[in-house]
Amino acid sequence: MPAPILIAGPAFGKPGRKPSAARPDAARPGGVSFYRQGDTRGGTAAPERDRRGLRLSTLSEPPSEQDVTPPPSFDIATAHPARVYDYLLGGKDNFTADRIAAEEIIETSPVVFECVRANRAFLSRAVGYLAGEAGIGQFLDIGTGLPTAENTHQVAQRVRPGSRVVYVDNDPIVLAHARALLTSTPQGACAYIDADARDTAAVLDRAAQTLDFGAPVAVMVLCTMQYVADADRPHDIIARLMAAVPSGSYLAMSDTTRDIDTTSMVAGAARYNARLGPTTFTPRTRAEYERFFAGLDLVEPGLVPMPQWRPESDSPGVIPMYAAVARKP
Ligand SMILES: C[S@@+](CC[C@H](N)C(=O)[O-])C[C@H]1O[C@@H](n2cnc3c(N)ncnc32)[C@H](O)[C@@H]1O
Repeated sequence: MPAPILIAGPAFGKPGRKPSAARPDAARPGGVSFYRQGDTRGGTAAPERDRRGLRLSTLSEPPSEQDVTPPPSFDIATAHPARVYDYLLGGKDNFTADRIAAEEIIETSPVVFECVRANRAFLSRAVGYLAGEAGIGQFLDIGTGLPTAENTHQVAQRVRPGSRVVYVDNDPIVLAHARALLTSTPQGACAYIDADARDTAAVLDRAAQTLDFGAPVAVMVLCTMQYVADADRPHDIIARLMAAVPSGSYLAMSDTTRDIDTTSMVAGAARYNARLGPTTFTPRTRAEYERFFAGLDLVEPGLVPMPQWRPESDSPGVIPMYAAVARKP
């Protein structure tokens, strides 16, 4: 069965091609389909709390009421990147296993708080640049994460109201909250595809219902390839995506590196991987990141420590993250 695609705003694709519903019983009038809203949010009082006041218990405890609320397809026993990231950003769409993993990361690398905030700030600057100076009106945002402030379509459509944005993620919790990503301007369009980035054919096929691949597209892959193991050939994934978009398209990427703060990054990655189940976290070297941009022209200032990419205000200190934006010649 194809993965669900949810669409808001006019679809671009061939006449008669319709988005499928997230679930047979979840279709809503108006062309938008989604899981029930509000059935996965946590936030009740709990006996043991972390430094942010959220519940923190051990994995051997039975799941709390808040943990068993979501549909059974949610794996709450292992940490998931989207939910760990949500926790680090101060969100509530996470479970005990995610919070334990996040607290371990914080213990090993307290700088992670700066990293996640710097990454969202980079997203804003990169999309602002792409929609503005670069003149891009189409965005393929792979590894979207849970909706938060200043999502890609909000930044892009503020600059260019007709922007068309397709979000892609493979985590069921992101799908459950995808409606919050479908608040397009009337002139533009937003769609959400529940798919794995490794299946580039499916991603591109379904994205073509909303994006015109005859015109430039900004492919955004922020803090996501770090969750694709070397065995799954992450460089080939990016190469296939960039091969599908025309000249004048862009690639925006950010990820964690083990070049900076190497000892704690390697130790932190090992601890995190022990919590992640089948997903693996791979912080890469600068040389490994440079290969993602092979054949593309890096936009100034090039591949740099993330805070140095076109900073707009006081940037944080050194953090173990790289970022870059590049144009397909
Ligand atoms: C750290 S979050 C980044 C969210 C957002 N891009 C940002 O930078 O703020 C990583 C996201 O990538 C998603 N992800 C990881 N591996 C993926 C894959 N193979 N296919 C699709 N999404 C994936 C996770 O579910 C998670 O939502």
